[in-house]
Amino acid sequence: MRSDRIFNFGAGPAMLPIEVMEKAQKEFLNYNGMGASIIELSHRGQEFISVLDRCDRLIRELSGLPDNYKILYMPGGGQMQFSAVPLNLLGRMPQKKALFIESGSFTRMAREEASRYGAVKVIASSAGTDFDRIPGFDHNAIEQDASYAFITSNNTVRGTCWNKFPATGEVPLIVDATSDIFSRQMDFSQCGLVFAGLQKNLGPAGLGLVLVRDDLLEYAMPQTPRLLNYKLYSEEHSLVNTINTFAVYMLMLVLEWMVDRGGISQLQVINEIKAKTLYDVIDRSDFYQDFAQKGHRSTVNVTFSVANRSLLDVFLSEANERGLYALKGLNAYPSLRASIYNAMPLEGVQCLADFMKDFEHRYG
Ligand SMILES: Cc1ncc(COP(=O)(O)O)c(C=O)c1O
Repeated sequence: MRSDRIFNFGAGPAMLPIEVMEKAQKEFLNYNGMGASIIELSHRGQEFISVLDRCDRLIRELSGLPDNYKILYMPGGGQMQFSAVPLNLLGRMPQKKALFIESGSFTRMAREEASRYGAVKVIASSAGTDFDRIPGFDHNAIEQDASYAFITSNNTVRGTCWNKFPATGEVPLIVDATSDIFSRQMDFSQCGLVFAGLQKNLGPAGLGLVLVRDDLLEYAMPQTPRLLNYKLYSEEHSLVNTINTFAVYMLMLVLEWMVDRGGISQLQVINEIKAKTLYDVIDRSDFYQDFAQKGHRSTVNVTFSVANRSLLDVFLSEANERGLYALKGLNAYPSLRASIYNAMPLEGVQCLADFMKDFEHRYG
């Protein structure tokens, strides 16, 4: 790790691999011998189209995405999909109804947004236990006349994740994978659509990646804005308007880095070691309190608290001094969160674990 860099445990925008940023820096003024930066080149020119094509190929290579899935790059990050999904998919069935398994505040926001366009039904929720788990649910609750069923694969705020996606029969499963996409292996063929903002595991904020089964491109409601219409994005290779060329270019570099690292399966192995390193420290004593139920714990967002809450500010300020940055959680409880996405090195997690043990030793 370079001495001028911190370990950023923020939930996103998050750390990007240093190799990626150094490469971007090196070729920023002169991309591919063009005498211009990639951000100065036309999104319709051959240089940029090659970047886009390469992203497509790398995504397929890394994820094993089946051929009948389209890859779309859309503006607006993760949340724009809270609108795009209902606008494009509620029309799949006459009832225009969407089912939600509510496991966190982002699922709730997605549900509220969908309710502007059709009927929504929460078939299970863990709100009653403050989203400390993935809710249990009865498979019979998946009403087969629904247009889709929606889940969030990893709940960034509370630090829980689905270990196995629910079987939804003929009802397409829609997955918000903003915080765990490509951090672990997923069976995309089980999903109708998976989307993610780039800013945690894949690149800069503001761009959304959408992987969608091609039979689902046909149901956009008439009021769907052009810039949210999946079919149009599929037909125009995501060049419906001037795409965020820099974000796509950074995505390409991150995907190349992932291939160099041995792909998603290898990243998953490292991510599991990273998470275990922190959960082991949390579980060792009562000084730290965990939050997410065991068996539901996220590998990429580790949430916890210091049992003696008066120590919180001291913990954060001492952590900051050691270059362990942005550990404050979103809520008063659990007050701490370590986001450890793909680009967080094991070394950073080890530093945090050592600091936590030392802090406990001194204040426990
Ligand atoms: C699970 C999840 N969904 C959606 C979002 C929203 O993404 P964006 O800020 O790109 O709209 C986030 C952001 O943290 C998230 O964690």
